Amino acid sequence: MTGSVRHFLDLDQLDAATLRAIINHGLAIKRGAWSGKPLAGKTLALIFEKPSTRTRVSFEVGMRQLGGDVVVLDSPGSQLGRGETVGDTARVLSRYVAAIMIRTDSATKLAELAEFGSVPVINGLTDRSHPCQIMADVMTFEEHLGPIKGRVVAWVGDGNNVATSWIHAAARFEFELRLACPEQLKPAQAVVDWANANGGRVRFVSSPQEAVAGVDCVVTDTWVSMNHQDRSERINLLLPYRVDDALMAGAKPDAVFMHCLPAHRGEEVTDAVIDGPRSVVWDEAENRLHIQKAILIWCLVD
Ligand code: CP
Repeated sequence: MTGSVRHFLDLDQLDAATLRAIINHGLAIKRGAWSGKPLAGKTLALIFEKPSTRTRVSFEVGMRQLGGDVVVLDSPGSQLGRGETVGDTARVLSRYVAAIMIRTDSATKLAELAEFGSVPVINGLTDRSHPCQIMADVMTFEEHLGPIKGRVVAWVGDGNNVATSWIHAAARFEFELRLACPEQLKPAQAVVDWANANGGRVRFVSSPQEAVAGVDCVVTDTWVSMNHQDRSERINLLLPYRVDDALMAGAKPDAVFMHCLPAHRGEEVTDAVIDGPRSVVWDEAENRLHIQKAILIWCLVD
C-alpha cells in the first residue's frame, strides 16, 4: 500500500525539497539544535538479508534515542528465509510495527514491501541503491565544505549501488558528478540519462585522473561486495582505480575523501588516504545516525 504513506525508497523517487529538508534536519539533530522523543511507542522492524554494521547499529541506536524501539529479523532466523512471500511478510509486520527498514539483494523485494505493507518502508541497501548512505554523505560534504550545489564530486571505481545513489543525488542536490569506472562496471546508462534529464550534470570520464581533476570530493567503494563471486577478475579490472595520494593530489587542496565503509585497505584505497587529513570517513559513518533519525522522523511524524 503506498498512498500517503511516506516511504524512503530511493532518491529519484523523492523531490529535492523533501531531501533538502531531511539533510537540514540531520544537521540540526547533530548540532543538538533539536531533541525530543517523537517516536515513543513506535517500533521499527529491521530486516537484514545481508550483513551490516553501520546500518544496523545506527538505525537501532537512532530509533531508541528518539524514544522508539526496534525488532531485528535476519533471513535465516525468520520465515522470509524459508520462502514466505515478501507481500505476506509486509502485511503481517504492518500489524505490529510503525515502519520497516530492509537490506536486501533485491530492489524488487523493497518495492513489494512498500506495495503490500501499510507502514513506511526504508531502503537500507539493495543491489540497486543505498540512499540512506548518500544522504549521510551529502550531509558530511556540507559539514566540511558548505553547500554541495554547484560543487564537483568524483566517483572512482566500481559503478555499484552506492554510485547509483550518488547519481540520483547529483540531480536532486544539483552538483556535478564525474564517474571513472571500468567499462564492464559502469552504472546503467538509464540512471545517468535520468539524472541529466532532471537537472543533473553527470558524465563518464576515461580515467581516474580525469575524474578527480580539480574536484571538491573523491569517493570510492569496495571492489568486491557481498554478492560478488569473481573476486580476482574484479580486482584486476579495478587496480588502476585505487585511490592513493598521487590520485588525491589531482583534486582541490581542500578536497575531502569519502568511503561508505567497510573499506578494504590496500585495494580501493590506501592507508595513507583513508587515515589521512582529507579523509572524512568517520564523520560519514557517524552521520548515518543523525540522518537516519531525520529520515525516521520524516517517515513517522507529520
Ligand atoms: N556503509 C554501510 O552501509 O555499512 P554497513 O554495511 O556496515 O551497514
